[in-house]
Amino acid sequence: MPEVTTNALKGQVAAVTGAGRGIGAAIARKLAGLGATVVLCGRTRAPLDATAAEIKKDHANTVVMECDVSDLSSVEKLAAQVERDPGRVDILVNNAGIGGFGGPLHTMPPQSWDAVLNTNLRGVYYCIRSFAPMMIRNRGGHIINISSLAGKNALPNGAAYAASKWGLNGLSYSVAEELRSHNIRVSVVCPGSVDTSLSPHEGKDKNKMLRPEDVAHVVAMLVTQAPQSFASEVLLRPTQKP
Ligand SMILES: NC(=O)c1ccc[n+]([C@@H]2O[C@H](COP(=O)([O-])OP(=O)(O)OC[C@H]3O[C@@H](n4cnc5c(N)ncnc54)[C@H](OP(=O)(O)O)[C@@H]3O)[C@@H](O)[C@H]2O)c1
Repeated sequence: MPEVTTNALKGQVAAVTGAGRGIGAAIARKLAGLGATVVLCGRTRAPLDATAAEIKKDHANTVVMECDVSDLSSVEKLAAQVERDPGRVDILVNNAGIGGFGGPLHTMPPQSWDAVLNTNLRGVYYCIRSFAPMMIRNRGGHIINISSLAGKNALPNGAAYAASKWGLNGLSYSVAEELRSHNIRVSVVCPGSVDTSLSPHEGKDKNKMLRPEDVAHVVAMLVTQAPQSFASEVLLRPTQKP
């Protein structure tokens, strides 16, 4: 294993979706800290600019691009811009996601179902569809999909969210097989409850929950692994049950 240094990702470009806050912002900070040029994407400009400004204090390279992952033309535009400048993508972190924990599935309005599935699952398909050809042309890359332990377990009152993440796990295992001959590694990370604005996590102790930086640490470990192997799935749990 190469040592993880501050320059471990120098010369590499990482695109992180949902990088304006929460887990995505922590991943963007971490990858920039390892020397990558980071493309920060999300629907809203201001939080992306804020994350980028924070990263720039350390003189790291950042590019901010607005993108809605549930809109194919928006994702295609993002990929085309990235291919023009900075010109390549080595790491794609599919992190953008929304919750949906309002009650039993039979009470969920169809438009809410669509929003959850279109962001958490279809959005990842759109990003892989748009970025994988660039990685194939560059003969390598690493795709990290941020799933959830809700993609391994039952989640009452969050069935659509759980379905999106179970689907994302299946997508990840399958795409990993499709792309490994192109020297592209695909990993899925399934964290437990993380203290962000995604969900109030009612009844849980915030002090015991995972922090966004815990997920970012796992992403950093994955993308700095020596090229001959990859961890295809990581289940990340807080040490103390929240
Ligand atoms: N928090 C948890 O307990 C937890 C646990 C396991 C897994 N996860 C997963 O971790 C990921 C990040 O969650 P988080 O907790 O950091 O949530 P968060 O704080 O709500 O952040 C979500 C990010 O995704 C972006 N986003 C949402 N919809 C988007 C879209 N259509 N296109 C582009 N960007 C979009 C948001 O920015 P805009 O709204 O500006 O677009 C925001 O930056 C999600 O995939 C989530 O399912 C979270």
